[in-house]
Amino acid sequence: MITHLALLTSGGDAPGMNAAIRAVVRTAHFHGIKATGIMDGYDGLVKGNFIELGPRDMRNIVQRGGTMLRSARSESFRTVEGRATAAKNLRDAGIDALICIGGGGTQAGAHQLSTEQGVKLIGVASTIDNDLGGSDRTIGFDTACNTALEAMDRLRDTAASYGRIFFVEVMGRDTGFIAMHTGIAAGAEYVMVPERRENVNELVSVLENRSKEKGSCIVVVAEGDEEGGAFKLAAEVGKRCPQFDIRVSVLGHLQRGGSPTMADRLLAARLGAAAVEGLIAGKHSCVVGIVQGAITFTPHAKAIAEKKMIEPDLMRLLTMLAV
Ligand code: F6P
Repeated sequence: MITHLALLTSGGDAPGMNAAIRAVVRTAHFHGIKATGIMDGYDGLVKGNFIELGPRDMRNIVQRGGTMLRSARSESFRTVEGRATAAKNLRDAGIDALICIGGGGTQAGAHQLSTEQGVKLIGVASTIDNDLGGSDRTIGFDTACNTALEAMDRLRDTAASYGRIFFVEVMGRDTGFIAMHTGIAAGAEYVMVPERRENVNELVSVLENRSKEKGSCIVVVAEGDEEGGAFKLAAEVGKRCPQFDIRVSVLGHLQRGGSPTMADRLLAARLGAAAVEGLIAGKHSCVVGIVQGAITFTPHAKAIAEKKMIEPDLMRLLTMLAV
């Protein structure tokens, strides 16, 4: 039986984390469960940086980006001693269960805490990169994509006016979800993603054909792409094709901030509530997500190990549409 739960956000913040916090705290309140917020992710857990949270503390946060519980990198949590202290802090505060909101790194930390220290916990899938298993979409992905898309539309205006080629770098350390989804939505001519060994020769030939016919081109580059970032690629293409007028734009952390979209708020509300009700139903050591429209609880080890791939038909779709 759970009477007191704690929650934290960790890793890269993502728009919608606040909406998830709100859903956890208010669902806990609905079920008569006390909620404690842990500040600064796992670092605050090791240091015992806890705050009490009630439903009224959740006012006016659903629309805010970032995370009111803040996030941090924790060196001490990487050690067994640090994790033992974290577990002891939870026990000392009378906390029965923990909810960890974050992406792959956060869920790996949660998995260690549960297997090694026996902490009862559930993870909530949240990262703009959308690269965590156990959920078709992760909290923050939709907002980050919409932010990047808006930037690309603006860049297209100026690119078209000058007949320029723009290399736009988007986030995505290990995967190209943001790059591929926004590339198709923005009508980009080419997308470079880490999942696919793209060929610079192929890129150059696409640009040579398209720029002759269309004038401007947009090439979206995922930051984790094997060929290097947008600047490196642009330099390589510029060397081979000195006739191109090339510009580079790195969108960076712009994509992490901002008010969450409706899709992210709804996802966060569903996952936050499901995490609490999952714990009440006896579930733990898993990641709560939505797979094919339904709430699912995927064992932590499986969710972390899953190598989520961009939908295979999307590259073909991009090539077909970018004529
Ligand atoms: O949260 C994921 C992410 O935004 C990646 O896309 C990016 O590579 C990384 O975090 C940046 O991390 P930091 O904020 O520590 O620079």
